[in-house]
Amino acid sequence: MVAGAQTGTTEGWSSRTAFVLAAVGAAVGLGNLWRFPTLAGESGGGAFVAVYVGCVILIGLPLVLSEILIGRAGRSDAVDSVRNVAKASGISEKWQIFGWFEIIAAFFILTFYSVVAGWVIYYIGVMLGDFFSALGAGEPLRGALAGETSEQITGRMGALFENVPMLVAMHTLFMLITIGIVAQGVTDGIEKAAMFLMPAFFVLLVLITIYGAFTGDFGRAVEFLFTPDFSKLTPPVINEALGQALFSMSLGSAALMTYGAYVSRDTKLGPTAGMIGFADTGVAIIAGLMIFPIVFAAGLDPAGGPTLVFQSLPIAFQNMPAGSLIGLLFFVLVFFAALTSSISLLEGPTAWAKEAFGWSRSKTAWIVGLCIYVVGIACALSLSIWSDVRLLPFWDIFADQNIFDTIDGFTGKILLPTSAFLTAIFVGWRADRKLVDAETGLQGGTLAAFRFLVAWVCPIAVGLILLFGIFPELLTAISG
Ligand code: PFF
Repeated sequence: MVAGAQTGTTEGWSSRTAFVLAAVGAAVGLGNLWRFPTLAGESGGGAFVAVYVGCVILIGLPLVLSEILIGRAGRSDAVDSVRNVAKASGISEKWQIFGWFEIIAAFFILTFYSVVAGWVIYYIGVMLGDFFSALGAGEPLRGALAGETSEQITGRMGALFENVPMLVAMHTLFMLITIGIVAQGVTDGIEKAAMFLMPAFFVLLVLITIYGAFTGDFGRAVEFLFTPDFSKLTPPVINEALGQALFSMSLGSAALMTYGAYVSRDTKLGPTAGMIGFADTGVAIIAGLMIFPIVFAAGLDPAGGPTLVFQSLPIAFQNMPAGSLIGLLFFVLVFFAALTSSISLLEGPTAWAKEAFGWSRSKTAWIVGLCIYVVGIACALSLSIWSDVRLLPFWDIFADQNIFDTIDGFTGKILLPTSAFLTAIFVGWRADRKLVDAETGLQGGTLAAFRFLVAWVCPIAVGLILLFGIFPELLTAISG
């Protein structure tokens, strides 16, 4: 703990493995499983993957390390950790403002993240019912949703959006599970969940990928994901790659800072940050190699967004041998990934409120979770009956967006880059240099590289995302 830290957490991971799994769990989520593969496929294949990996190494990793080190040095929630480090560095405590931004970002991201995770639970239910009926019919190895037309399968998603009680029920269930885990604490809740969910996730990922490679069109998937098409690498695409790297590595949203506060002094943070980035990017790429062979084998369009996972894939599972079982396992895998991320999203605001109000962990997790839950209901309703409600009608970039998209856009385009930018300036320029260097556990050339990236490359790159997020017309102008 830095000298001068007044508040502090008494909780901690029981091992480095526990921390790494929890942090990888925070990073690997819905973002990896559909957004990355789709962006890669549509935006230049191998050229996009190369740019993305570049963003991860040059911008993502230094910021991951910066956030974890602020947490470990400050040893408290996101706001207090920044304040403690600022104090120890002899600079203004006003720097805690970006700790606030991070907590607010986590709060709002979880509101819509939980709604999407609710869709995943709904599809687990659909697939489970289907698998049992296949078993009942004595055909456990048949394709999914036998007898349904493609229209019926794709129609399920629209029907779910209109079915408000079901949508809210699924969001409720997901929030209850998330809160239940966070309420148990770091060792008994978050860590235990990660130690089970992450290995189970990796086993499912590898199994489905291998199975898909043999039964699907692996060659086309590799071609789609990796054939470099540099003509598609326009400024908006590069901007998108950077934004996706921030979201995917859980930057700017208190998760890593808060988890960092529970890391023991003898853990070397530099290599640990490297592992988190490597695992997150590896999963994103493998996710593409899992999803696209199945999609192409069914002759489907690799079109983007949520429709890929919730509409195209179920049709693909219909055409796949044992698709009924594989479809079920796939949605369980997505659920595991979403859950470890949502836990980290709730932990940031919970750790802050626990310190700020002096409540017990359990009480805090339930109160904070309930507030997020209520805003989440508005996100869910905005998919149907509240689709005309506008949160920021006076702001042109959000004027036409429903509550769900406004919260998604505001957090992703404004809050995350703002906090990431301030983190880079804080660690790169303002925080005590000796303290930062000692926390990284890096030496020589790697330390020099970290210092250069965090002080120069990160602020410039992230500052540009912020600028283009607020003024999209600038991006259109420079892309000609
Ligand atoms: N990284 C997660 C994903 O890719 O789905 C999302 C996320 C989790 C963002 C935790 C921010 C966060 F703090």
